[in-house]
Amino acid sequence: MTVPQRWPLPTMAFGGDWNPDQWPREVWQHDITLMRELGVNLLSLPVFAWPQLEPSEGEYRTDWLAEILDALDAAGIGVALATGTATPPAWLVRAHPEMLPVRADGVRLDFGSRQSYCPSSPVFRAKVAALTTILATRFGDHPALRLWHVSNEYGDHISRCWCEVCAASFRRWLLRRHGSLAGINAAWGTKVWGQLYTDVEQIEVPRVTPGPDNPARLLDFERFCSDNVLELFRLELDILGELTPGVPRTTNFMGLFHDLDYWRFAAVEDLVSNDAYPDPGNTASHTDIALSYGLMRSLKSRPWLLIESAPSAVSWRPVNVPKAPGQLRAHALQAVAHGSDGAMFFQWRAARTGPERFHSAILGHRGEASRSFAEASQLAADLATLAPVAGSRVRSSVAMVVDWDTIWALRPDASLPAEISWHAEAYQHHAALHQLGLAVDSVALPGSDLSRYAVVVAPTLYVTSDAQAEALTEFVRGGGTLVVGAFSGVVNECEQVHAGGPPGPLRELLGVEVDEQWPLLETDEQIVEFDSGARTVGRFWAEWIEPSDDVEVVAHYDGRPLHDLPAITRRRLGEGAAYYVSAGLPLDSLTPWLHQVCAEAGVDVRMSANPSVEVVTRTDGATDYVFVINHAPTPAEARGPADADVLLAPDGDPPVRRASGLSITLPPFGVAVLRMPSTTPSLHHVHSIEV
Ligand code: GLA
Ligand code: ZN
Repeated sequence: MTVPQRWPLPTMAFGGDWNPDQWPREVWQHDITLMRELGVNLLSLPVFAWPQLEPSEGEYRTDWLAEILDALDAAGIGVALATGTATPPAWLVRAHPEMLPVRADGVRLDFGSRQSYCPSSPVFRAKVAALTTILATRFGDHPALRLWHVSNEYGDHISRCWCEVCAASFRRWLLRRHGSLAGINAAWGTKVWGQLYTDVEQIEVPRVTPGPDNPARLLDFERFCSDNVLELFRLELDILGELTPGVPRTTNFMGLFHDLDYWRFAAVEDLVSNDAYPDPGNTASHTDIALSYGLMRSLKSRPWLLIESAPSAVSWRPVNVPKAPGQLRAHALQAVAHGSDGAMFFQWRAARTGPERFHSAILGHRGEASRSFAEASQLAADLATLAPVAGSRVRSSVAMVVDWDTIWALRPDASLPAEISWHAEAYQHHAALHQLGLAVDSVALPGSDLSRYAVVVAPTLYVTSDAQAEALTEFVRGGGTLVVGAFSGVVNECEQVHAGGPPGPLRELLGVEVDEQWPLLETDEQIVEFDSGARTVGRFWAEWIEPSDDVEVVAHYDGRPLHDLPAITRRRLGEGAAYYVSAGLPLDSLTPWLHQVCAEAGVDVRMSANPSVEVVTRTDGATDYVFVINHAPTPAEARGPADADVLLAPDGDPPVRRASGLSITLPPFGVAVLRMPSTTPSLHHVHSIEV
């Protein structure tokens, strides 16, 4: 038998979650006919069907699924086949109530939603393995099978559990990490506050304590929980890898999700897929979501797949604003611009029952008459036009460090000088770079190849290891420009303050020492003055820093309490430069400052006159595809090179070509894609599109 080409698809993926098991049989063929008309080529199913696949212990029913897969194959529709393991059935949970997850306060969560499992539960894991084996054995050769969709959104509801089984796994994990009980005591510094353990059995998962907990214990618990879910993921991956080698495996990520270290998850799967739900009610959501798209394309340095998104409103925000006309397309093509090879939706047909009955779908409650159906049809045609873009890379010359140790350690209750959140600082720095027209990749430290970038930004790198400092130093020596934000190089991987204080292993690279962190009260007006003369009022954070002799001060504090002390420094090293920004800068001064830094580093930046219009370039080395996306409900103008081809024209007035350039009028939420020959293999180069 000839094995069909499973992946990548020869075009952009288009489709979504389909839950035929939730609908009577009559609907199946009708849906498939409509999907075919619409151009659906990929479906995720059956994500939540465990009780339908195994109605009682060991009684597997897969014929209905075979019938559906056969019908889809006959219609030319491929399947990301879900292993269905995110919803253990009631009979299983009731037979083994100990598999239900326990909260930090000791409450055991009951059945009645999804993800009703403790990730460590041996019985749950055994049943997961059994179901995965059944599906892989029965459907591994099925011609409709394109991908395995393992479980669903790990950690969406449950990533942590404080039960006894988890506590025992945590102890084993700690012994592996620290070698011995003495190693754990030393790593956690347990002599402080009388926390010394004399037997490993005394160590528990961090439940509710009388006062502040040991930060190193909490950080290790975060790492353990992420690794524990990863172990669950690997259980399925290994079975699928063995039984169906050659079928790519993925699980759907959730952007910059706090709980799981996606670098480690991506390393063990074959394809990065992601669920994205930017809020249509927030005019800046396209900016923030772009940061997570940068992570997705960087996790494996390859195209990724938007496997879930909403056709219109979701049903889990306090106020669920629908997408305006055109916004479905703008959101979907934004993901494509940022490296997704397709756009898929949750879900095909709107549920009439259950918690998601008000969640939008391609077929809303009005069926084919729904507005989302019409908008999805248009998108399907757009994606077909964009088929040549599939497989290409995003041009980017700037990367942001994304490091889960720092994300986890900067907890709101971490007894720090003041609350500081990685996410808030990352979004702030990214918003500035996005306004400069830059598509920002993500890098892991150590691990990623930094030499591909002109500028690397670490908004805050609270936890810094020697290896990370070395990777950054090598990058700067090699000609890179590094921007390190406040409160970096503070602690080692055990959350112990580096000897001599921050910035610890970054001290030599940055050429500064931090004497004290100096968080600001809301009422403080700590001025930061740049060497250009520009002045701003600092935001929430400042530091008393002492620069070494070979360091230039590029901004200083003015007025009390840090009068005349350096606020931002630059140290030139080898061919590059390393900046340390000790102050919290508001966006309106961070943006022009980063503009200058990037321009000096040779990055092609332009301050966008209209931050609602996003320009992102994908390239396959021979041809560049420039996406111009209007994220606003008002029309916008853009100008491109005179010789650019229009691959995808926006609705409304066609672009006008003059000797001076191509004028494009973008209607509200309009998108244009231009095509031109690649002039350079460097991913840094971007085209001049004026907005
Ligand atoms: C998540 C889940 C889906 C669905 C959507 C709704 O992404 O994976 O099953 O619940 O949210 O927004
Ligand atoms: Zn547990």
